[in-house]
Amino acid sequence: ELDLPAAAVDIVRSARWVTVFSGAGMSAESGIATFRDAETGLWERYDPAQLATPEAWEADPALVWAWYQWRARLVRDTEPNAGHHALAALAADRAVMVVTQNVDDLHERAGSDVVSHLHGSLFAPRCSHCGRPYRGTDVEPDRAVERLRVEPPMCPHCLAPVRPGVVWFGEPLSAESWSKAENAFAVTDVVIVVGTSGIVYPAAGLPERALARGVPVIEFNPEPSALSDRVTHSVRASAALGLPALLEAVRAGR
Ligand code: APR
Repeated sequence: ELDLPAAAVDIVRSARWVTVFSGAGMSAESGIATFRDAETGLWERYDPAQLATPEAWEADPALVWAWYQWRARLVRDTEPNAGHHALAALAADRAVMVVTQNVDDLHERAGSDVVSHLHGSLFAPRCSHCGRPYRGTDVEPDRAVERLRVEPPMCPHCLAPVRPGVVWFGEPLSAESWSKAENAFAVTDVVIVVGTSGIVYPAAGLPERALARGVPVIEFNPEPSALSDRVTHSVRASAALGLPALLEAVRAGR
């Protein structure tokens, strides 16, 4: 039986503003591997230095492009899990802002309509030079076959290569998504942290801002994370089990 602290449930029930801070564990039960879990971590199979850096893009844009399109296809064939749906349902009675480190679109597909992607999105290709969003249909994930080298399309405005709309190691976060996240953490009454190891900054510094303002932070993670000993409540539960239980408890006490 899940030990959901009653205090945590009360906090969420009475909150006007709820901010969700999610990481790869949020999508694990949808079948998308996390990054650092040893047996399933994505990086174990691919060397991050090989694929998720500006240098890799310079060295071999076609390989980097094909890998991201493969990941986009993986997501396209995946469904949001009960955790994503519980978060969307929570927004029926209060403002819920999702700040995610994930580049999948599962929060949106579950119905969350306020989502900020701190590390970008698999579904937002943009020009590597002028930054404009790319709208060509030739980047549809189904069109890219991961084994073949897919030449990046060209931006119609400046003829530079189109790149994945994902933030790479060493790159700055997009100013727009970062300011949306800062604003959410500045007004929120509670933070629900789900499925993140809490070791990648500056994203991992956001829950600290809430705690510094005396705002409670509730974590859902089957394992301890780097945030666990600082959050208000750390619930040892997965996203797809813990979040529906939270929703049910919040509704029960209405
Ligand atoms: N439910 C909830 N949490 C889970 C689940 C689950 N079903 N399965 C695993 N987890 C937890 C793990 O215990 C771990 O703490 O999710 C966390 C996943 O951590 P990471 O793999 O490090 O993913 P994340 O924290 O999102 O990584 C941050 O690093 O590689 C970069 O840009 C990438 O956004 C990513 C960032």
